[in-house]
Amino acid sequence: MSEQNKKSTTDFGFREVPVEEKVKKVADVFHSVAGKYDLMNDLMSGGVHRLWKKITIEQSGARRGHTILDIAGGTGDLTMRFSRIVGPTGKVVLADINDSMLKVGRDRLMDRGVAGNVEFVQANAECLPFPDNTFDVITIAFGLRNVTDKDAAIRSMTRVLKPGGKVMVLEFSKTDNPALTKLYDFYSFNILPKMGQLIAGDSESYKYLAESIRMHPDQETLKSMMQDAGLVNCKYQNMTGGVVALHTGIKP
Ligand SMILES: C[S@@+](CC[C@H](N)C(=O)[O-])C[C@H]1O[C@@H](n2cnc3c(N)ncnc32)[C@H](O)[C@@H]1O
Repeated sequence: MSEQNKKSTTDFGFREVPVEEKVKKVADVFHSVAGKYDLMNDLMSGGVHRLWKKITIEQSGARRGHTILDIAGGTGDLTMRFSRIVGPTGKVVLADINDSMLKVGRDRLMDRGVAGNVEFVQANAECLPFPDNTFDVITIAFGLRNVTDKDAAIRSMTRVLKPGGKVMVLEFSKTDNPALTKLYDFYSFNILPKMGQLIAGDSESYKYLAESIRMHPDQETLKSMMQDAGLVNCKYQNMTGGVVALHTGIKP
């Protein structure tokens, strides 16, 4: 049992809530934003999230015939790209805990004609419903910070990864430049919730987004968590001054 599991409360943004309440609160956030999720992503990041995701795909080593898990895959940005790479002999599993996000993802992929080799599964990253040693690559993009027991999720991903396979965690992280941090804080806490209200009719969910980013483990802590789960060659690459970091680890 991990440290997180032993605690009776956990963070939900800057608030401490009972562990069993966090899942429901996170679910409410994504039920609320699902319909406007893609539009908000483009607006909030000025389209830069596409570049972060492109770099993730390029560094994944994914190729034709591979089996890939995109956990917390949401509306399917990474899945869509992986689907094209692995081709008809491969498979991509888009898994997410939230049925509203999965539905938007499924409709979107169907509309674009890329769902042939994609399977949609409702699953919690903490206890993945797949056999050991199944996937060549596993990605979790902007998902891990929403998970209550992050250690359990990393262990679960490691279990279902094939030996030699790669786990990739793309997530908001800690900026290293004080001027950038000041600007980023102002943007996150003042502009973002207002944009959320204007576009998605929901400022609270975007307030949670800003707070959950600040509560997420920093680069070195997350790297240690991946090592503790048994992954090797763990490293990270900061993007946009550490606003986002891409962590990778290999299953020995
Ligand atoms: C910010 S979205 C990211 C979606 C997509 N990966 C992307 O990069 O655009 C976070 C996703 O994590 C999902 N999520 C939250 N907690 C989860 C959990 N414990 N297990 C699986 N998915 C989870 C949410 O439902 C949501 O779809």
